[in-house]
Amino acid sequence: MVAKQAAPYMAVVVVVMVVTLVDTCVLAIPVSRQVSLRKVREVNREGPYIGLITVYPPEEKAFFATNAFQPHPSYPFIDLSGRRFRVGKIQDKSVIYMRCGVGTRNAATATQQMLDLFDISGIIHFGIAGNTNNSLSIGDVTIHKQFAQTGIWDWLKPNGTLYENDVAHLDIGNYNVPNGQGMNLLGRIGFSPEQFYSESGQPNTPERIIWANVSRHWLHSAAKLEGMELERCLNSSLCLPSEPKLVIGLRGSTADIFLDNAAYREFLAKTFSVSSVDMESAAVVMTSLSNGFPVIVIRGLSDLAGGQVGHNSIDALGPIAALNTAKVAVQFVKILPN
Ligand SMILES: *[C@@H]1O[C@H](CO)[C@@H](O)[C@H](O)[C@H]1NC(C)=O
Ligand SMILES: *[C@@H]1O[C@H](CO)[C@@H](O)[C@H](O)[C@H]1NC(C)=O
Ligand SMILES: *[C@@H]1O[C@H](CO)[C@@H](O)[C@H](O)[C@H]1NC(C)=O
Ligand SMILES: *[C@@H]1O[C@H](CO)[C@@H](O)[C@H](O)[C@H]1NC(C)=O
Repeated sequence: MVAKQAAPYMAVVVVVMVVTLVDTCVLAIPVSRQVSLRKVREVNREGPYIGLITVYPPEEKAFFATNAFQPHPSYPFIDLSGRRFRVGKIQDKSVIYMRCGVGTRNAATATQQMLDLFDISGIIHFGIAGNTNNSLSIGDVTIHKQFAQTGIWDWLKPNGTLYENDVAHLDIGNYNVPNGQGMNLLGRIGFSPEQFYSESGQPNTPERIIWANVSRHWLHSAAKLEGMELERCLNSSLCLPSEPKLVIGLRGSTADIFLDNAAYREFLAKTFSVSSVDMESAAVVMTSLSNGFPVIVIRGLSDLAGGQVGHNSIDALGPIAALNTAKVAVQFVKILPN
């Protein structure tokens, strides 16, 4: 009797539960995100946009100091996943600017997010870097042709056998300078190429690559900037040691390592023939290429990555290096064909 009476009541409870569940599914996206995604749809009606990505606040400050960015009148920015996407124009070109944060994870996820969300025609990544080429000067701005991810290591035992994928190695075990007295236990590091997935390759079948290449047609366009005038001084008290220049077509490296060490700097320069070190470029390039988008990287040299005597100059000369880098980036946007 009791059970019979309860049956219709139970049915109502089940219906309510199902409705609640469906409702919860719809609401799984937080309201603030739904609002942002709605703005994204609005903004995309006016695309395509060139994606601009810097890394950290001094680079962002330099970008805004060029006064080239005109914010969108209705949607100056959209916040998503803790990041701020700024929508606007540089001259007649629509752009979306963001600052991704330090390191390869931030660089790759931010790039992927930008490409997934917005109607993007290509990515221009810019910022500062450490100089590993003794023929270049602090303040020079580079537009490299390719980047290696030099942070994927097989860390082995002393005298350990390198893996067949390893393209280079560093014997830390006998790296005792000056007097090598036997071996220490830190062993050796084998450098392994990164796995690269791309739309042009077989699905789920990554290629092992050492070099991620920036887009050749954009590098070709960048050649028009050669000889561009750069600032030697930021103000009356902050000047570069020599007249800066734009250098196109060399190689850079990326790893989740802030490098301020002469021995490792020399190892990287000799082993990989790289002229700069940074913590994001290879990740931005690889992510853009994986998705089939053009990409270029502009990096100004703010310091000697440990090759200097005394303090690293990133804090002192970073602002002027960042300013010249931002100027080159803005000029590159301007000369790109529509
Ligand atoms: C590594 O090899 C060197 C030279 O072959 C040898 O002298 C040394 O004892 C080895 N070290 C270890 C930890 O196996
Ligand atoms: C990048 O360019 C080099 C030639 O400079 C080429 O050997 C390499 O395969 C290219 N990398 C990719 C991923 O296409
Ligand atoms: C020059 O710029 C640097 C870096 O922004 C700043 O620390 C310094 O105070 C400035 N000097 C003058 C004289 O404005
Ligand atoms: C270092 O820079 C000079 C000057 O641009 C260049 O000629 C040279 O090839 C660079 N070194 C390497 C290893 O790329």
